[in-house]
Amino acid sequence: MNRRLGVLISGRGSNLQAIIEAIAAGPLEATIALVISNRPGVRGLDRARAAGIATTVIEHGSFPTREVYDLALIDALRRHDVGLVCLAGFMRLLSTAFVSAFPSAILNVHPSLLPAFPGVEAQQQALDHGVKVAGCTVHFVTAELDAGPIVMQAAVPVLADDTTATLSARILVEEHRLYPLAIARVLAGGWRMEGRRFLAG
Ligand code: GRF
Repeated sequence: MNRRLGVLISGRGSNLQAIIEAIAAGPLEATIALVISNRPGVRGLDRARAAGIATTVIEHGSFPTREVYDLALIDALRRHDVGLVCLAGFMRLLSTAFVSAFPSAILNVHPSLLPAFPGVEAQQQALDHGVKVAGCTVHFVTAELDAGPIVMQAAVPVLADDTTATLSARILVEEHRLYPLAIARVLAGGWRMEGRRFLAG
């Protein structure tokens, strides 16, 4: 698989930072070809620039439809010869056109043990539900929100005195560890899908 990553962000970019650091430190053999944000002025863009990575802002508000917006994303990613798209806090649903443009080559990290608690505020959903174990999931992206085949998951305990902030922080540590590992696993190839099951080796 082409090891050129396109990372899509909307904000803080701490998962982007984890990918940058895993590449710099060696375990993740890849290049971030482009970081795209749908919002200007976000911290993730500063992190990318500080690492010397090409960035572009494609604001969704200036496009008439999701499909037209997604065509602009596809165009930017293709121009940078991206082989694997990594969503990292990208707060937009993707159209089927986008998903088909990168078959089995779009990943996302989500702060819950999917299929529990898809969508926004997953950590708050977990607390409200009263689960005792929470975690994060790296999965392939389909047009359905947070529903694609699972590549890797990591679990953390939910503690009696947890708030959304403390639980989110505990999950985030695992996100930063897991996402580069999962990207490396997918890039390494030699995996197959059986139904929804990602089977490595
Ligand atoms: C993470 O919790 C990620 O799982 C979710 O959005 C958050 C993004 O954080 N999809 P960051 O921008 O990577 O810091």
